[in-house]
Amino acid sequence: MDQEPAPASKKQSLVILTTPRLILRATAEEDISVLQNLILGDSDVMRFAFSGAPMAGEAAEDFIRRSFTFGESLTGMAVLTEKPAGEVIGFAGLSPCQALEADDFEIGFVLARRAWGRGIATEVGEAQLVFGFEQLKCGRLLGMVDPRNAPSIHALEKLGMRFRETIADPKRGSRSVYMIEAGEWRRRRAE
Ligand SMILES: CC(C)(COP(=O)(O)OP(=O)(O)OC[C@H]1O[C@@H](n2cnc3c(N)ncnc32)[C@H](O)[C@@H]1OP(=O)(O)O)[C@@H](O)C(=O)NCCC(=O)NCCS
Repeated sequence: MDQEPAPASKKQSLVILTTPRLILRATAEEDISVLQNLILGDSDVMRFAFSGAPMAGEAAEDFIRRSFTFGESLTGMAVLTEKPAGEVIGFAGLSPCQALEADDFEIGFVLARRAWGRGIATEVGEAQLVFGFEQLKCGRLLGMVDPRNAPSIHALEKLGMRFRETIADPKRGSRSVYMIEAGEWRRRRAE
């Protein structure tokens, strides 16, 4: 399938995927401060994400500009919003990942504290698997998680991902690599 994003209107950010409750869309300039305040600057949210430390100011802005899509691509981190008002509740996306020394994509989700415990990670994770297998045509998808992050591990397992190995990521530290192959995902969907 064509991976080129459809043109977005001036006011509307490119929509990457939708679920019953959620919209994952490209980042806009005005999201930067919201993401900093709600997520990247919160030490509870960041405890097991990325380097494990909150990011503020320029570091947070640099990170967003490097890792997020602003509409030029359907991959990379994007802004997760909740219907119907479009409130920003986190970020998620498929990002290139060489953890298994191949050109894979990993799924990922980081939610503001107020969005925890409502099945949001599982809901956006399922949609990311559909996107990765059906639109990007990936043969397998990875999930990288801090081995201490029990809720995230549980969410990955609910998605059908299985533990593969633990690696030492140069930027993030110890990470358990979870994986699901396209064939296995299709079998699970058909059940
Ligand atoms: C981890 C995170 C994404 C989970 O999001 P969420 O929307 O609350 O997760 P869900 O509700 O979809 O599912 C979490 C599951 O873990 C379970 N869970 C919660 N705490 C748990 C714990 N301490 N041990 C084991 N399972 C736990 C929940 O009960 C739920 O399972 P269930 O649906 O079978 O009851 C969210 O807490 C978050 O964003 N944390 C901060 C950032 C982060 O760590 N992101 C992941 C980086 S890999």
